[in-house]
Amino acid sequence: MREFNIGPAFAFADPGRKVIEADGVEVGVFKVDGEFYAYQNICPHNGGPACQGKMIYKVEELIAEHGVSKGLVFSKTQLNVTCPWHGYEFDIRSGRHQGDGSVRLAAVKVRVESGDVIVTMPAPGL
Ligand code: FES
Repeated sequence: MREFNIGPAFAFADPGRKVIEADGVEVGVFKVDGEFYAYQNICPHNGGPACQGKMIYKVEELIAEHGVSKGLVFSKTQLNVTCPWHGYEFDIRSGRHQGDGSVRLAAVKVRVESGDVIVTMPAPGL
């Protein structure tokens, strides 16, 4: 595994994302509310480039008393990334799929050191 400095943390949009590649391994690096998260750019469904899909706030249903639906709204806190191949949505903060929490993106180590974002790239084939 090798570490890569991918630039100053302040230069990332928030929310924002960069997809980086080294030795054939792609990693999506996300910034949400000032925190960084990183995942291998491989969808657990069928191998699509999950980290390159649309970033969209989770759709939630408002339920009133007596179980009556008041319609759908976007979450104000949970931001998802949507795999462009078949639409699986993953919580950017956890990497977990919306419908089945056991399905998740493979996490990659990322940290901010001296103001720069450092990613520990997984070895090829992992
Ligand atoms: S490969 Fe990502 S949803 Fe199918």
